[in-house]
Amino acid sequence: MNAGEGAQVMIIAIDGPAASGKGTIAKQLAAVYGLHHLDTGLLYRAVAKALLDAGYPPDDVEHAIDAAIRLDPTKFDENALKLQAITEAASVVAAIPEVRQALMNYQREFATRPPGSVLDGRDIGTVIAPGADVKLFVVASPQVRAKRRVLELRSRGETAEEADVLADLLRRDERDSRRTAAPLKAAADAHLLDTTHLGIDAAFRAAVDIVEAVRAGRKRR
Ligand code: CDP
Repeated sequence: MNAGEGAQVMIIAIDGPAASGKGTIAKQLAAVYGLHHLDTGLLYRAVAKALLDAGYPPDDVEHAIDAAIRLDPTKFDENALKLQAITEAASVVAAIPEVRQALMNYQREFATRPPGSVLDGRDIGTVIAPGADVKLFVVASPQVRAKRRVLELRSRGETAEEADVLADLLRRDERDSRRTAAPLKAAADAHLLDTTHLGIDAAFRAAVDIVEAVRAGRKRR
């Protein structure tokens, strides 16, 4: 726990590449520790959707910034935002520094709402919540991530081919890692969690073990 200004809040930052399992881990950690959860990818997806719905291409910087400023994160339709058609465009708008800037305050305020929050994304441990109590960087091999994403998309009723999904993941990882604004990277003090050979339960247990080890270490100090 972190003695913030007044209320005690706990912030857990979870970053990692596409379909690494960070969202599932984040949801489960939030439930077990009684914290709020924010899937920050939805913010970038919502900006992309607003842009596409209005008939603009995702690299239309001016309209993307406008969409980010006008965004109302309380009105998200998660199912519509998770569609493959939105995914690639989300990574394009996410590379625009002013878009990221426009979404920053909302994320930071969300993070510090008592009793605290779990946020998952690409830049949570590095930019949004650099003082987070615990930081995880979740990775898995591209092949395993593509398999998982195909199952997820099919369960949502989308048709998905593994080779296409793999190509999409790799293209996005590359764009997300190479951009200059808040690139995808592990914070220096993040704990690496490789879920390549872990099922959902084992990955969750490994995440809890890390959180508990960090908290125990803090108490001893
Ligand atoms: O679920 P998946 O990992 O495929 O994607 P997501 O987390 O919903 O993120 C979609 C896109 O938003 C990513 O490819 C990033 O470009 C961007 N994003 C970001 O730049 N920063 C974040 N904190 C979260 C997502």
